[in-house]
Amino acid sequence: MQQTRGRFSSRLGFVLAAAGSAVGLGNIWGFPTQAASNGGAAFLLVYLALAFCLAYPVLMTELVIGRYARGNPITALTAVSSNALSRVLAPVIGGFGVVVASLILSFYCIVGGWMMSHFLAELFGLLGMTGVAVWLETFSLSRSLLFTALFMLLTIRIISQGVESGIERWSTRLMPLLLTMLVLLTLYVITMDGAMEGLRVYLIPDFSIALSPSLIIKALGSAFFSLSLGVGTMLIYGSYIDDSESLPKLGTQVTIIDISIAVLAGFLILPAMYVALHNGVEIFSENGSLISEDTLIFTVLPALFDKIGLAGGVVGTFFFMLMSIAALTSSISMLEVPVATAVEKSSLQRNVASYAVGGAILLVSITIIMNFEQLFGAVIAFTTRYSQPLLGMLICIYVAWVWNRGEVLQQLQKGSPDIETSTFWRIWPAYIKYVCPLVILIIFVQSF
Ligand code: TRP
Repeated sequence: MQQTRGRFSSRLGFVLAAAGSAVGLGNIWGFPTQAASNGGAAFLLVYLALAFCLAYPVLMTELVIGRYARGNPITALTAVSSNALSRVLAPVIGGFGVVVASLILSFYCIVGGWMMSHFLAELFGLLGMTGVAVWLETFSLSRSLLFTALFMLLTIRIISQGVESGIERWSTRLMPLLLTMLVLLTLYVITMDGAMEGLRVYLIPDFSIALSPSLIIKALGSAFFSLSLGVGTMLIYGSYIDDSESLPKLGTQVTIIDISIAVLAGFLILPAMYVALHNGVEIFSENGSLISEDTLIFTVLPALFDKIGLAGGVVGTFFFMLMSIAALTSSISMLEVPVATAVEKSSLQRNVASYAVGGAILLVSITIIMNFEQLFGAVIAFTTRYSQPLLGMLICIYVAWVWNRGEVLQQLQKGSPDIETSTFWRIWPAYIKYVCPLVILIIFVQSF
């Protein structure tokens, strides 16, 4: 059984795959637009604090449990259970995680599909095929259905190839490309007229908004979403890490990459908005606040690319390609959760399981598309705002309260033999035992 499980072939393979999971639409789209409308640098500071003080410790719990149990969330939580109650609840909590991961994928595919269709729209626009380009960039039911299915198919294909030749191979190919494009686009946009105003909005803190409870829960949700926490993604990726690797080190690297890319994306998106304003594109909504989220990406930016002619077409093509890649390396990590669970809990082949599970999730996506107004926002709020922090809290409780502390230490000592005398071990156990669950709970209750 142990031999047939996939493994990441190298440390870099894991770091790029986990960073690929973490770096997604949440970083390049969610974070910058939230920062823009919620106090700029003040939001950034709240986000950084939450990411390091709450999300990183929770990420570590997932990696430790995953590598110890070498299995899906249900198996893993059961493996660390020490009494009747925890054993009964383990499959419920693990199973809920698998369901939430699948639901997240169901809306993420829709958005990933939009990114792909805009990428093709910019490309066809460049080639002068305006008719096709207009269809591709105009919101329609047929377009959403087609591109959601295409995006899901790509995700399924990568996952069906397994850990090393699917997840790892594609992450190591796509992540360097993503970073290069992000840096080049940022350098280009930041030199354009109007960009400085955007930088000012991004970097001048306004604490009056950033410290409100509703905002903190938003920032916490973003931090958890950004690090792919709670639903077993990182737990399963952790289960593919070799025993010779140091988990705290890997976790730190992934967190730093994730946060840096979010911060870097802010240097692209906010200046781009104000460059658009400078070019006569409306970026404020009627009540005077910045246009938010989807309108920004799918209206403001394409309008900007249009205005700056040929260069705009090239920038637009690369921008939406960047978004599509970021979405894909994340979506595979979501599909891996139900697929790995299905393979380990039944006798299904990975290939069959990938298509069956992916197909079922696609049906959910289609249902969301057909009832967009009622379902889209609701599914996002239910999964990311409430379920993810709640599940993160429960995983902390399993590692800190249910699991035997000696075994946690033993697991961490693999790959980092001196861990017992490290600052990490001095702080982390108490931290995930008291601080994380309590703070998550407080923020959670406050949000109602
Ligand atoms: N972290 C990704 C982003 O920022 C999204 C993501 C990937 C995710 N895997 C996940 C979110 C699992 C929640 C759960 O876009």
